[in-house]
Amino acid sequence: MTSSSSRFAGRTAVVTGGAQGIGAAVTERLCGEGCRVVIYDKSADHGRITVDEFRRRGWQAHLAVGDVTDQAAVAAAFAEAPGDWSPPTLLVNCAAGFVFAGVEATPAQWRSALDPTIIGLSLVTQTFVNGLPPHEADAAIVNIASISAHIAQEGYLTYNTSKAAVLGFTRCAAQELAPRGIRVNSVSPGTVWNANNARYHREVLGLDRPAAEAAPEHGGKFLLGRFADPAEIAAPIAFLLSSEASFITGVDLPVDGGYLAV
Ligand SMILES: NC(=O)c1ccc[n+]([C@@H]2O[C@H](COP(=O)([O-])OP(=O)(O)OC[C@H]3O[C@@H](n4cnc5c(N)ncnc54)[C@H](O)[C@@H]3O)[C@@H](O)[C@H]2O)c1
Repeated sequence: MTSSSSRFAGRTAVVTGGAQGIGAAVTERLCGEGCRVVIYDKSADHGRITVDEFRRRGWQAHLAVGDVTDQAAVAAAFAEAPGDWSPPTLLVNCAAGFVFAGVEATPAQWRSALDPTIIGLSLVTQTFVNGLPPHEADAAIVNIASISAHIAQEGYLTYNTSKAAVLGFTRCAAQELAPRGIRVNSVSPGTVWNANNARYHREVLGLDRPAAEAAPEHGGKFLLGRFADPAEIAAPIAFLLSSEASFITGVDLPVDGGYLAV
């Protein structure tokens, strides 16, 4: 860890979807920099494994199990953070609905895409904002959008629409919350090599990571010629949460190996 290793000492963060993938990497990064982190995730099994691992390292991580679309469970998660922790002043909205369908998408598919990614995100954000200490001047939110929010992809209409909505949410929330000193930004990752992507490439495309990264239609679409590791998304998220980004709000930061540059 760098000299910024205690940037978040004494702070508390909530990371939705923190049990796995990018959310787990964000939790790891924040804990490593002195933060206490509440992981809010619907997967009790993955959440327990992740929290146990971080606690073994001596970090302060707490698991609250629930779905981001469940208002009562979200409220309970914020209320059940350990009593000696400061109130959460940092929020990372990672949880999302992964629904890939085109114009023939059913209402049920649309709800599965939009409910977690937008309605759930807004419920968590509302609960976070309402729980902030009065006069809190250093609160920050980072939402996870995607390169998919910026482009068209065959068969991705539901997912890309939901992620484009995250960009709109981020800008409007930034405007609304700026008078209270709350910054709101998003990141747009390119393909991240997590367990689900590894399984998809192996089982559906028959490719391991080196083969997928070498393929022009996969890794070759990124200027850097490869996919990201979750930690490479977590680092800029930590920056946007930190006081080093104190004059940054309402932006989307592509973390995409140059995908959107061309
Ligand atoms: N992996 C990528 O290539 C990639 C690229 C761009 C953007 N993203 C975005 O990054 C975020 C994290 O993706 P990931 O790849 O790390 O996913 P992941 O599947 O590895 O982890 C997602 C976590 O969110 C939890 N979750 C899902 N829905 C939930 C809900 N309704 N309520 C509570 N928890 C819920 C899951 O249990 C899981 O632990 C998502 O918003 C995704 O759209 C991912």
